[in-house]
Amino acid sequence: MSMSDTIKTVVGRRVWDSRGRPTVEVEIRTASGASGRAIAPAGASTGAGEALDRRDGGTAFGGLDVTGAVASVNGEIAAALLGMAVDDQTGADRSLIALDDTPNKSRLGGNAIIATSMALAHAAAASAGLPLWRHLAGDTPPGPLPLPEIQILGGGAHAARRVDVQDFMVIAVGAPDYPTALDWTADVYRAAGRILADAGRLQGVADEGGFWPAFDSNEEALDCLLRAIEASGHAPGDEVAIALDIAASDFGSGGRYTLARDGREIDSDGLADMLLGWLARYPVVSIEDPMGEDDEAAFARFTHAAPAGVQIVGDDLVTTNAARIAHCAGIGAGNTALIKPNQIGTLTETREALDSAREMGWGAIVSARSGETEDVTIVHLGVGWAIPQLKVGSFTRSERMAKWNEGLRLAEQVPSGAALPVRSAYPWGRS
Ligand code: PGA
Ligand code: ZN
Repeated sequence: MSMSDTIKTVVGRRVWDSRGRPTVEVEIRTASGASGRAIAPAGASTGAGEALDRRDGGTAFGGLDVTGAVASVNGEIAAALLGMAVDDQTGADRSLIALDDTPNKSRLGGNAIIATSMALAHAAAASAGLPLWRHLAGDTPPGPLPLPEIQILGGGAHAARRVDVQDFMVIAVGAPDYPTALDWTADVYRAAGRILADAGRLQGVADEGGFWPAFDSNEEALDCLLRAIEASGHAPGDEVAIALDIAASDFGSGGRYTLARDGREIDSDGLADMLLGWLARYPVVSIEDPMGEDDEAAFARFTHAAPAGVQIVGDDLVTTNAARIAHCAGIGAGNTALIKPNQIGTLTETREALDSAREMGWGAIVSARSGETEDVTIVHLGVGWAIPQLKVGSFTRSERMAKWNEGLRLAEQVPSGAALPVRSAYPWGRS
């Protein structure tokens, strides 16, 4: 086919996310009758550099309604995109950026723009008769299924600060393939639930579905997670390792951090000492945002001080921004970028962030947000763009399971087959 399919309609609508908050869905139809749809997720512990999630303010739904963002989709955005080639993702994304014309996409709304950008990719894939991951891969080889990073206990801003640390996660580093990594995580999740129930410390689940435990310290949560891995029958460290998201920007700024659970305020060096102690005592292989986003020098010192092979992830630090990733890599702050499309606002810029990470020799993890939906676009990004890891939250609640389950479907389609080189794809692989 020489003539490219074109965008015929762009429709925005208000739908609801996993926290029961309004969010933006966009549906794009092409002249040939193909269609694609995507929904914007939303963060709670957002970085200062993120694209703005445009909300109405006022009184409806606590000020969180998105009628303004939906109106920008149905008005200006639709008018700008109608008639464009559906497979010109870069051209469409550049038009949206120019149309918005603010540094943080605040005029049209980052939520309106990312939902449009992702819906366009779905429509282009449908128009070409390809699964999204295949369309995204283009001429480059797709990846195997990414290695899952899965939350077992939730804290921080997602659990009323019941513990300071936001995510206590596991990575099944020894699993031979993606389905097995999920099997082992299910074992750990079940074991953690049993341990918490037996101790009378089970309170419910946090925003991303991890257990929301009644702990008196961060270390108690770490001990619980380690015991859950042991009780699951999978060797701690070798088969199932611990990953943490400290989300330090949420409990400190200007190099001062307040540990609510431990009842003390510490400086950057004190926080680093505490975290380095955890790295020495627990099988932690990955640690995200160990310092605040405004504490770059301390972030770099921590990266240097951490044992070789530990993954140090920048989330709030770099906010999926290619220039921020290059800057932080240049000063040695972190060694891996969290990739969240809605932090930057378009798929084109998300791809630039990933390319920046690769150029700087960094690793990458494609990630969901704490406010999510049934949208599974990020799983296709992981495979199509060969991103080696995937962070989606916990192993409960369908906005999370929709992503893990989509990965199981893709595991049947990805050319590398069922046995995935998970270990060798991973920096600390022991194979
Ligand atoms: P958020 O949290 O989606 O609330 O920003 C996720 C994270 O910090 O990784
Ligand atoms: Zn984070």
